[in-house]
Amino acid sequence: MEKDETRAFFAARATTWDDTFPDDGPVFAAAIARLELTPGSVALDAGCGTGRAMPLLRGFTDRVVGLDLTPEMALVARGRGAVLIGDAGELPFAAATVDGILAAGLIGHLGEPRGTLREFARVARPGARLALFHPVGRAVLAARRGRELSPDDIRAEPHLTPLLRSAGWEPVHFHDEDDHYLALARLA
Ligand SMILES: C[S@@+](CC[C@H](N)C(=O)[O-])C[C@H]1O[C@@H](n2cnc3c(N)ncnc32)[C@H](O)[C@@H]1O
Repeated sequence: MEKDETRAFFAARATTWDDTFPDDGPVFAAAIARLELTPGSVALDAGCGTGRAMPLLRGFTDRVVGLDLTPEMALVARGRGAVLIGDAGELPFAAATVDGILAAGLIGHLGEPRGTLREFARVARPGARLALFHPVGRAVLAARRGRELSPDDIRAEPHLTPLLRSAGWEPVHFHDEDDHYLALARLA
C-alpha cells in the first residue's frame, strides 16, 4: 500500500480498532516479554496504532515511545503515552538509542520493508531485540481477508530470514501458527 492509502485505511478504523480485537492482550503480553526489556530500557512501538501495546510495554520500562503514520491512530494512542506521528522508515531517533522494538501488524503494510528494518537497526543498541508480531498467524489473517496465503509473502520464514539478516538483524525465534505470529530478532 502507498502511504496515503495506508493512512486512509487506518484513519477510518481508529475509533473502533480496540473494540474489534478486544482479546489480544495475553498474546501481546507474551510477545512483549520476549523483548527482554528491563527498567530504564528504551522501547519503541513502531506502527503503534491506538497504542494498545503501550501499557504492556510500560510493565517493563517507563521509557516507551509509540510512532504511527496515521494521525487518527496516533491521537487515540496519545491517551496511552508518548506518541509521535511519522514513518517507521525515518525515525527521529539518534543511532543506537533503542533497546527493544515492537512492530505489531506493521511489516505487511510497508512499501520498503528492508529500508524500515535497516532503520530499526540504525536506532537499535547492540543486542537490542526486534519483535515482528501479529496476534494471529498468517493463515488466519489471510482467511479473515478472504485471501489465499501468498508464497511470496515476505513474512514467511524463508523470505524473512534473509531479509532480516540483510538489514542487520539475526533471527532468534520464528512462530507462525493460528494462535499468533512472532518473528524475533537480535541486532547482529
Ligand atoms: C495493523 S495496524 C496495527 C496497529 C497496532 N500495532 C496494533 O497491533 O494494534 C498497523 C499500523 O501501522 C501503521 N503504519 C503503517 N505503515 C506505517 C509506517 N510506514 N510507519 C509507521 N506506521 C505505519 C498504520 O497507520 C497502523 O496504525
